[in-house]
Formats: sequence, C-alpha cells, structure tokens
Amino acid sequence: MKKNLLVMGIETSCDETSVSIVRNGKEILSNIVSSQIESHKRFGGVVPEIASRHHVEQITIVLEEAMKEASVSYEDLDAIAVTEGPGLVGALLIGVNAAKAVAFAHGIPLVSVHHIAGHIYANRLVKEMEFPLLALVVSGGHTELVYMKDHGQFEVIGETRDDAAGEAYDKVARTLQMPYPGGPHIDRLAATGEVTVDLPRAWLEEGSYDFSFSGLKSAVINTVHNAEQRGETIKPEDLAASFQESVVDVLVTKTLQAVKEYPVKQVLLAGGVAANQGLRTALTAAFAEIPELDLVIPPLRLCGDNAAMIAAAGTVLFEKGHRAEMNLNANPGLDITLYNEW
Ligand code: KG4
Ligand code: ZN
Repeated sequence: MKKNLLVMGIETSCDETSVSIVRNGKEILSNIVSSQIESHKRFGGVVPEIASRHHVEQITIVLEEAMKEASVSYEDLDAIAVTEGPGLVGALLIGVNAAKAVAFAHGIPLVSVHHIAGHIYANRLVKEMEFPLLALVVSGGHTELVYMKDHGQFEVIGETRDDAAGEAYDKVARTLQMPYPGGPHIDRLAATGEVTVDLPRAWLEEGSYDFSFSGLKSAVINTVHNAEQRGETIKPEDLAASFQESVVDVLVTKTLQAVKEYPVKQVLLAGGVAANQGLRTALTAAFAEIPELDLVIPPLRLCGDNAAMIAAAGTVLFEKGHRAEMNLNANPGLDITLYNEW
C-alpha cells in the first residue's frame, strides 16, 4: 500500500449531504455532514424532491469545506468514493454526478460504494476489522445480519421480511405524535419508562436469521387505538420502553444465535439505529459474557449517514482494484453481494 492513501467519500443517498477525506481507510481528516432533517420534519418523513434540491444546493459547499478542513489539494487524492445505492434515486444522482465531475476534472479514479457496505466500514474508523466477522446492520431502510470472511465479501445471512428496524421506530413515533425521525425520540422516551405492555416478538422459523417488525409496529398502533377507544391512557414512555425492548430482544437474540453458528472473531454494529442506547447497552451486556468475541460499536457521529464511512469502504474496494466508469449511474436497488466476485 502507498504510504498515505487519501480517499474522498461522497454520500447523498437520503437526507444528509456529506463529503469526507479519509487517510488509509481509517483516519478521518474531515467529515462534513449537512442534514436536511428540519426541511423534512413538517412532512413527517423524507420528501424525495426536497432531498434532491437540498443536495444540489449543499454539495459544492460541503465538498469545499471537507477539502479545506482536511487541508489537502485535489492532486493529493488517490480516489473518489461515492454511494451508488441503495437510496433515493434523485438524491443518489447528485452525489454520483459530483463525484464524476471531480474525478474527471482532476483525473482521479472513481470507486462506487454500496451504502450498507459504508455503514459496516464505519467500524474500521474505530478499530481494525478482524475476519471472519458478523455485522448487525440496523438502519432506516435495512435490517440485516451480514457475515464477512474478508474485506469486501458480504454474505447476508438474515434480513427483514418487511419493515426495517428504523422504519418501525419512525412509524411508532408517528403514532405517538413525535417528530421525524422518531428513532432518537422513542429511544430517549424509552429510557424514562417501564416495560408494562406485552408486545410480540417475531422469531420466525427455527434457525432463521430473518427479521420482521411490521407485526410489532401494528401491535403498538392497535394498543394505542384500543386504549383511546376505551378511554384509557397508556403512558407513552411505557409504550416506548415496551416497544424498544421487543426490538432489542429480537436483534440481540438473533445476533447471539448467529455467532454460535458462524466462526466469527468480531461483531460490528452498524447503521442509524446503532445510535440506540437500549441496543448499545443490551449488546454490550450480552457480549460481556463472551469475552473471546470483540464487539465494536461506532461512536454516535458515525452511526448515521456520513461520507467517512463511504470513504472507508471505498478505500478497501480501491485497494482491491475496484473502479467505476465515467458512465456510473445511481442504482437505488444495488445488491451488496455484487462485490463478492472481486
Ligand atoms: O442509517 P440511517 O441514518 O439512514 C439509512 O440508511 O436508512 O438510519 C436512519 C434511521 C432512522 O429510521 C432513525 O429513526 C433511526 O435510524 N435512528 C434511531 C436512533 N437514531 C437514529 N433509531 C432508534 N434509536 C436511535 N437512537
Ligand atoms: Zn444509512
């Protein structure tokens, strides 16, 4: 490896415009994140057209700020890594086009990155990865258990059959009249409540690592509506605590089952819901009982969408020889296993 491999990451898949410069796939020189949450809040969710417009407005400013904060020039950059998908097509396109423009103008190689690979590689900015490993990916759009034998090798051993964990959080929050994104609000509320409501846990078939959260989400909504009809009140903090316990119980139990079957050395937590305090605490407690397994939990600033994680994953792909062409397009349905042939 060249002594100092400098990679720019660009992420615009949803509602954060982010550009980062990362050295050797591990050291963040800058990681600028411009969030649009305030603009989407009044609609109760991300509005794709508004997201695209914000990305257009922000991308150049964020890019210049990332370069300035890292104190690097374009000649120093070895690659431009950009999120190709999954995500909102119009949002992804802004990042892809910005990346192509910079790559073309300065003659820098272009690398396309899968958004979830980025979330997983956020952990490499904290600690070196040790293979084989298992990543529990919990975000607004994905809930997956990913087994990795080596860098860039992703085997999805379980995934959600309906809602993602973050999606369930956001929908339950909406029922409790909380602003978007609801995950952090439910998390804070849950910490003040008690588990008093009996809610379902979808274990699915014996041995399955798949998840399902739509039944739980509906159970919470029904509980609220039934109580309203009977003129009863359920404390929102107790409902939040009960919901959170149900989600966390399933996530932790399935992860513990998977590490019994797969010979892993490390377990990584990844995605926006990785910021959840209940999940962080429960995983830490569960893995304290298995000291031979190394549990890595990213700091809060690396859990949500950011470009440093894209640069981190992009660095590894670049070193493996992966290159994107100048006709790169946004791919909202990108499959993470596409890298496995590399
Ligand atoms: O990874 P991310 O930033 O975007 C996607 O790739 O989807 O994840 C966003 C999701 C949202 O659903 C948000 O409510 C959830 O992560 N989230 C949380 C917490 N912080 C963010 N969910 C539960 N507890 C949190 N503390
Ligand atoms: Zn994400």
